[in-house]
Amino acid sequence: MNKMQENTNQAFYDADSHQYDAERWITPAGRFTNDVQQSLVSDLCGSWSGRALEIGQGTARFTMPLLKNGMKMTICDLSSQMLGVARNNITQAGLEAGLEDVVEGSIYELPFEDGTFDHAISLNVYNHLEHPEVALGQMARVVRPGGSILINYANLRSWYWPAARRINKRSAAVDQEVFSSWIPSSRMKAAARDAGLTIDRRVGHVHVPRGMERLPLLPVVRVLDAVSRGGPFASMASVHFCLFQKPA
Ligand SMILES: C[S@@+](CC[C@H](N)C(=O)[O-])C[C@H]1O[C@@H](n2cnc3c(N)ncnc32)[C@H](O)[C@@H]1O
Repeated sequence: MNKMQENTNQAFYDADSHQYDAERWITPAGRFTNDVQQSLVSDLCGSWSGRALEIGQGTARFTMPLLKNGMKMTICDLSSQMLGVARNNITQAGLEAGLEDVVEGSIYELPFEDGTFDHAISLNVYNHLEHPEVALGQMARVVRPGGSILINYANLRSWYWPAARRINKRSAAVDQEVFSSWIPSSRMKAAARDAGLTIDRRVGHVHVPRGMERLPLLPVVRVLDAVSRGGPFASMASVHFCLFQKPA
């Protein structure tokens, strides 16, 4: 694994941790993306119970609803600053009783025994990974047989294809020094097969890209999102959520 790239991402998110929520979700466009993603998580993980691992939890915006649903959560992130913000948010929300562990670590080398968790979740992280196959293999390893895994990734061949190509060429997000990569769905399908997982559900949505929350793009994004949820344009969604099962 490229250690330098991990260090760059860690430094980026350490610095970003204290403004992450405020910068992204307070504008109408940011709120739209957050609302859509929260409702997808609630739909796809609504039946989960037991112990879950969340990798790259950031500020814990998805951890907290899962804790509210009674899940026992372990969070694991490359950024110690993000872990601090997440722990603080969880405590402020009075949800710390369900927080089993807070672990600094990489998705490429998860520091947990095989089959430790009933479920694993990692959202808005795969777009920062050069080796999604390794990450999915690690998530599959730490989940018990019969368990499930939810991830999402930035879909290369979406409405945002020209921007995605530019990002892939630079291996960095637009105007930001953080490793970024948009991947084709065929690559995630192959990764799932290699990790021994079956795809239970795949749902796409169209997000407002980071840094563009203040531009008047929301009406267009709403239309693109609506037509990409299913039907002939489903493959054009910019973000794909995949729910995988590990066979029992
Ligand atoms: C875009 S943020 C997403 C945070 C949260 N999941 C959300 O959607 O709001 C990406 C998070 O992944 C973490 N991260 C990046 N690369 C990682 C890796 N290799 N292993 C574990 N965490 C990583 C970052 O530190 C950051 O907290």
